Amino acid sequence: MQNTSHAVMSQRVEPGDSADDFPTPPWATRALLEHVISKSATREMSCLEPACGAGHMARVLKEYFSDVRCADAYDYGYAPVRDFLSYPHETNAVDWVITNPPFRLAEEFVARSFEVARRGVAVLVRSVFLESVGRFNRLFDAHPPSKFAQFVERVPMVKGRLDPKASTATGYAWLVWQHGFDDCPRLVWIPPCRRTLEKPNDYSNKQLSLI
Ligand SMILES: C[S@@+](CC[C@H](N)C(=O)[O-])C[C@H]1O[C@@H](n2cnc3c(N)ncnc32)[C@H](O)[C@@H]1O
Repeated sequence: MQNTSHAVMSQRVEPGDSADDFPTPPWATRALLEHVISKSATREMSCLEPACGAGHMARVLKEYFSDVRCADAYDYGYAPVRDFLSYPHETNAVDWVITNPPFRLAEEFVARSFEVARRGVAVLVRSVFLESVGRFNRLFDAHPPSKFAQFVERVPMVKGRLDPKASTATGYAWLVWQHGFDDCPRLVWIPPCRRTLEKPNDYSNKQLSLI
């Protein structure tokens, strides 16, 4: 029998030419800095959010990094319009590339990020991104991530807006590649943190009206 529950039905299934605009709830970006990568030196570092949409992830990155650069292939009125896959970023242009990429281009985004970031790359992806023979052959075999950080809570994302009441059946994880890391990939769990990492203004009208 088909499962038509709201959570299952709200999985991301997008046409091939879609912008795949699913903004990241701010707490899920804070979770990266609070639970996955060290935030001790990020104040001195630069970071590129190359698919920033309306800026929901970029705004949080600015809480941690002194220099946050942003762009998106589509115009959301927040940042310059640039296709990350064709824009001529310099090699090693920034310390980190951090984003929630369009799912259908996630692999290409990771490959391009390796060229642009000198310290590390972190992408928020569906947990199933770890699967597939093609991705193993093209990406993971030669470039295993240093960390696979699985959210134990769900990270609900809704097309085109932030919705604090949304639900999802999809699991998400932060995948991190850190330069100089030559150990086995580490599997870590991001502990329950939504309640502590959400801030009162995260879903305020001011933030939502920027979408
Ligand atoms: C899943 S949304 C994430 C938005 C934002 N990173 C966040 O976390 O809130 C993916 C974003 O990728 C953008 N995008 C799609 N293709 C792109 C490309 N080739 N270059 C740059 N941005 C792209 C979309 O417009 C959309 O804003």
